[in-house]
Amino acid sequence: MMESGAKMLLLATANPHKAGELRELLSAIGVQVLTLADLPSEIEAEQVEEDEPTLEGNALKKARYWAERSGFTTLADDTGLEVEMLGGAPGVYSARYAGEDATYEDNVRKLLAELQGVEERKAQFRTVLAYVSPQGEHLVDGICDGIIVKEVRGAGGFGYDPIFLPNGFEQTFAEMNSALKNSISHRGRALQAFAEWMKTKAHKT
Ligand code: IMP
Repeated sequence: MMESGAKMLLLATANPHKAGELRELLSAIGVQVLTLADLPSEIEAEQVEEDEPTLEGNALKKARYWAERSGFTTLADDTGLEVEMLGGAPGVYSARYAGEDATYEDNVRKLLAELQGVEERKAQFRTVLAYVSPQGEHLVDGICDGIIVKEVRGAGGFGYDPIFLPNGFEQTFAEMNSALKNSISHRGRALQAFAEWMKTKAHKT
């Protein structure tokens, strides 16, 4: 492994929005956040197959892979939508619920079909973050509770946003502006939990 600076963290995503959110949360403790887009292009293009049976397994698999490959302390995420009446499905299979090449619309249609006639529609989004450094590994998660509405509502966001109504709100994730969604979402909460953990850790080192 290449030696890395103590305060550099690689976020195993090429998504600049996820990185921006984390940067904002960690700026106070002087941690510099890199993404896969900051790595040499032949490395950045590599993909890790997300074939573990749990969100934790996939997040750890990605974080370990990129930590080893880059030499940087690494954070990776995996997210799923867990519907109570479906025993936690689609869960870790959220991205490919309606099949390997499913679009967001296909997945939404399948979930609405599965819940046709079902009145009990409790669900939660859950994001797991896995941190892998030479000193060890750490997992945190973030949960957003809500219900699956009966028809799509709103044009913002992505994935299951048009059918997820977070508890305590009257707008689906797709009807909210992104700042509000990020402040209450599973991913936002996981990132906040991670930032809190990093801060306590920074005080100890
Ligand atoms: P990922 O782990 O962030 O790639 O998320 C896996 C899948 O979960 C995505 O393909 C989406 O279908 C769904 N998903 C993740 N986060 C969200 C969200 O914030 N809103 C809606 N759907 C999401």
